Amino acid sequence: MQKKHSKYSRITTNTLSEMKKEGEKIAMLTSYDYTLANIVDKAGIDVILVGDSASSVMAGHETTVPITLDQMIYHASSVVRGVERALVVVDLPFGTYQSDSKKALRSSIKIMKESGSHAIKLEGGVEVKNSIERILNAGIPVMGHLGLTPQSIYKFGTYSVRAKKDYEAEKLFDDAKLLEELGCFAIVLEKIPAELAKKISLELKIPVIGIGAGVNVDGQVLVLHDMLGMNTEFSPRFLRRYLDLNHEITKAVGLYTQDVKKSAFPNEKEQY
Ligand code: KIV
Repeated sequence: MQKKHSKYSRITTNTLSEMKKEGEKIAMLTSYDYTLANIVDKAGIDVILVGDSASSVMAGHETTVPITLDQMIYHASSVVRGVERALVVVDLPFGTYQSDSKKALRSSIKIMKESGSHAIKLEGGVEVKNSIERILNAGIPVMGHLGLTPQSIYKFGTYSVRAKKDYEAEKLFDDAKLLEELGCFAIVLEKIPAELAKKISLELKIPVIGIGAGVNVDGQVLVLHDMLGMNTEFSPRFLRRYLDLNHEITKAVGLYTQDVKKSAFPNEKEQY
């Protein structure tokens, strides 16, 4: 029997807003496939993000830039089939919403219709205002994403902490307020100073979910494969590893290989 972490039996965008009002923190993780999404959902997570981090985690690309809309829909529809309770949010991939709000709406509708997910997420503030407005006008819930925005990696050139300078912090604060005014149901703040994240979370009525943004926000998100310790190379300060799955899998595969080589698998009970 799973331990219950929340009184809510089904998570919607309204539930997240209730959680913020009641001071209940929001737990969010990524998933990209049916099997892990099913485990994560049953374990009691509130929000599953089908992140464009799939580009690196699932496909081995160096950045999130190459992943396509159809690939995101493949991952999202696999996740949706495994989920009963969590809210499923899907990243709009790079090139499907920037600069062209009609294209942004078409991309969002395609994700919603073909994957069955519940909301979309996109990166940026005032630069993507028109796209956000058009998507929201069609009745599609939008989660914003500010701070470190990995789709702009080639503009910034590094994955370092964002908004450390006053003028950058001011822009980020204004962007966060704008996203709320436009009607986003929540925002992700990635890799920014904890004090700034706290200030934004206190200012906004919508939930603020942090990754590398300190504890004084309304929820936390991590990449599932990172927190399970499947990836040994990526070690930012904000990452807490809850398992060392890389080690466990390596050990299991080694034992299996050994057993096969010495004809110790299968045994008599494991055959017909
Ligand atoms: O793509 C992703 O996994 C994300 C999270 C890191 C927030 O956007």
